[in-house]
Amino acid sequence: MKPPFVIELLADHDRENFACGTEPLDRYLTSQVTQDVRRHVTNCFVAVEVETGIIAGYYTVAAASIPTPDLPEVIIKKLPRYPSLPAIRVGRLAIDLRFQGKGLGGALLADAAARGLRAEAAAFAMLVEAKDDAAVAFYEHHGFERLASQPRSLFLALASAGKALSAGRGQKKR
Ligand SMILES: CC(C)(COP(=O)(O)OP(=O)(O)OC[C@H]1O[C@@H](n2cnc3c(N)ncnc32)[C@H](O)[C@@H]1OP(=O)(O)O)[C@@H](O)C(=O)NCCC(=O)NCCS
Repeated sequence: MKPPFVIELLADHDRENFACGTEPLDRYLTSQVTQDVRRHVTNCFVAVEVETGIIAGYYTVAAASIPTPDLPEVIIKKLPRYPSLPAIRVGRLAIDLRFQGKGLGGALLADAAARGLRAEAAAFAMLVEAKDDAAVAFYEHHGFERLASQPRSLFLALASAGKALSAGRGQKKR
């Protein structure tokens, strides 16, 4: 049986009708993301419903770094004494209202983590930016922890991401 969604790089998909309930995230997808991709400041992956071609969700990802003192002591102790550590940043994550609550948000996080682990430039962790307390709770539910100096920025070590975000758990059959 075909999976209901594929996750792929944004290309010539129809972006017009995307609505996640947060207008700036919709506007970013419809009118800004292609410029950012062209300028190499982000990449954008979309979850596309296979049957209809509709964009059900998207995330953006770019290279980043984490100031080492922002990490918990228990993690710092196991790492080399570099002032910062390489990371990937999922700057935006949004699921269209028609597809929320089906596990797609978690599946997109798992997809970003898997790509971070496969990337040729090493990344120690995935960083996310939560826009509000509900988003913080969503990320904490998936095993992310807050950075010490930026409570709306959370991280998940990629080495443990597999366990925390068991890939594909979200792609429940419809
Ligand atoms: C937040 C958002 C990405 C979640 O996506 P989703 O596909 O609806 O969520 P999922 O179905 O993948 O949820 C997966 C798990 O997270 C939990 N969850 C969802 N929202 C949560 C929240 N706010 N707090 C705690 N847990 C939450 C679900 O209960 C589910 O748990 P389970 O796997 O144990 O059953 C989506 O609602 C959205 O796009 N919201 C608008 C934009 C936004 O807030 N983006 C967040 C980044 S700033």
